[in-house]
Amino acid sequence: MGTAILAGALDRGLYSAEEVVVTVRDRVRSSALVLDRCPGVEISEVAVAAETHLVAVKPPQVRAIVEALAKQKVVSQRLVSIAAGVTLSSLETWIGDGRPVVRVMPNTPALVSRAVSGITYGSSVTEQDCAVVERLFGSIGSVHVVSEAQFDPLMAISGSGPAYLYLFLEALEDAGVEAGLQRSLARELALKMVDGAARLALQTERPPQELRYEVTSPGGTTAAALGEFESHGFRSMVNAAIRACIARSVRLGGG
Ligand SMILES: NC(=O)c1ccc[n+]([C@@H]2O[C@H](COP(=O)([O-])OP(=O)(O)OC[C@H]3O[C@@H](n4cnc5c(N)ncnc54)[C@H](OP(=O)(O)O)[C@@H]3O)[C@@H](O)[C@H]2O)c1
Repeated sequence: MGTAILAGALDRGLYSAEEVVVTVRDRVRSSALVLDRCPGVEISEVAVAAETHLVAVKPPQVRAIVEALAKQKVVSQRLVSIAAGVTLSSLETWIGDGRPVVRVMPNTPALVSRAVSGITYGSSVTEQDCAVVERLFGSIGSVHVVSEAQFDPLMAISGSGPAYLYLFLEALEDAGVEAGLQRSLARELALKMVDGAARLALQTERPPQELRYEVTSPGGTTAAALGEFESHGFRSMVNAAIRACIARSVRLGGG
């Protein structure tokens, strides 16, 4: 995810490669991966002072990294974390000195510059911090500033959402194959259907329910399929999944 964000920022000319240092744990193992998408950046095994520190490691690794930055007095104007579950107050405590901290929750479409990123700001941020962070994440897609109370729900919808959609696409593809389609055709139909349906909803700004009614004639084929979804508890299943995602984030954050 860190590489995807950086690649987007470099592609958009937000930073030049010479302005960026990527801190890795193991230069030999990680250099090729980073340089493939972000050619020209400096790779370092030690963190350096920077205008912005973007922490893009797994949630359990964040504390050690941020505390090391603080202890070794590796300064930055702002600390940005994309880790699920790690709260603003934890980040503020670990980095100390009242330094500005920001939580961002992007998603994997960052890889094709179509991310949806939720942003929530700590208490010490300035207008300049907001501008820098929103420009950075704006370079890989759309940004949505929310309160921290809304951050986990946002993460459960757009951060983890691509995985739910891919699960649904896998199921559609398998069902299409079982019904007699070639796998490649079933996959292409499902993918293009999702792309078209999402564009229709986005471009017309009509609510999904209204668009669903348009496809569904009473007693027709779509109604037959939707009836199966409803009778198998589709809505309550989605609700339970979102709640599980939020609960997991709270546990990751130690709550
Ligand atoms: N994937 C998503 O859809 C998504 C969406 C939103 C937010 N996030 C958040 O993004 C963060 C990263 O997720 P990911 O999916 O990108 O995980 P990932 O592919 O495992 O990337 C984590 C990277 O952190 C590196 N790392 C670990 N410890 C380090 C250290 N001490 N110094 C420098 N680098 C270190 C790892 O390097 P090694 O190879 O050496 O372990 C690895 O390259 C997570 O906190 C996650 O919550 C992910």
